[in-house]
Amino acid sequence: MTAPTHFLDLDQFDADTLRAMLKLGSDFKRGAVAEDQRRPLAGKTLAMIFEKPSTRTRVSFEVGMRQLGGDVVNLSNGASQLGRGETIADTARVLSRYCDAIMIRTDDPAKLHELALHASIPVINGLTDETHPCQVMADVMTFEEHRGSIAGKVVCWSGDGNNVAASWIQAAAHFGFEMRVACPENREPDASVVQWARDRGASIVIGRDPQALAQGADCVVTDTWVSMHEEGANLHNLLRPYQVNGALMRAAAPDALFMHCLPCHREEEVTSEVIDGPQSVVWDEAENRLHAQKGILAWCLTRS
Ligand code: CP
Ligand code: NVA
Repeated sequence: MTAPTHFLDLDQFDADTLRAMLKLGSDFKRGAVAEDQRRPLAGKTLAMIFEKPSTRTRVSFEVGMRQLGGDVVNLSNGASQLGRGETIADTARVLSRYCDAIMIRTDDPAKLHELALHASIPVINGLTDETHPCQVMADVMTFEEHRGSIAGKVVCWSGDGNNVAASWIQAAAHFGFEMRVACPENREPDASVVQWARDRGASIVIGRDPQALAQGADCVVTDTWVSMHEEGANLHNLLRPYQVNGALMRAAAPDALFMHCLPCHREEEVTSEVIDGPQSVVWDEAENRLHAQKGILAWCLTRS
């Protein structure tokens, strides 16, 4: 039996493979796929395990599978034996007998890797506390639709150095853009992720001053101040200086894009002026979760 093609994190692939997935997703989006290849997942089923809430990930994977001819089964802790202590390994073995792929949104990346280790079908990372690779695939697709190749461009993250920021840093190494992260000292992205990207020649700049780091940037990105795994934490005072507002956008290039993975908290990490303004591409970004993931799904499921 050949090993399944998992989609666990961006550091697991080379740039050509990620580009091939994006191209596939973009071809589906533009209808540039031969009539008889539009439903490559006919008869295939994706199991979706959600250990945290979701709107975009849940809906885009479900709609994406259906558009590719397949189907989904939804599992959540409360509705499966995982919530009563059945192991991840046993769950992987069982789902591998019914389904053709598993998408999981969970807290600890160790669970994602445990699932992949024991599944004989592809496993896809739908977010962990540490990364969110599907999101950043959609983000790169969105940037390139608006501005052409992201290679050589500058992306400035202002806010918490969280899971989405980590996937952006990994993407910088593959897609050849400079990644600047403005964040408080104790909210920096994981040092091993930064080192991994720098070891591959990526320009990763981490600092405290959002105005300085946003200078001339082609894209400004942020995310919630309080991620799901830190629900209830009071990070507002710490992160307020990193809010993306009109003044920060004016420091960036005049045609800079604004991105946010959503859900957002208006007047916290981003002002309404920016997220509802002309530089914001957040709705295209949300839509592209569907298209980028169709590329990822088709890539993983037709190779396993
Ligand atoms: N951006 C994102 O992953 O959104 P959801 O939490 O709604 O899936
Ligand atoms: N950083 C956020 C992303 C949500 C899509 C979280 O983990 O809650």
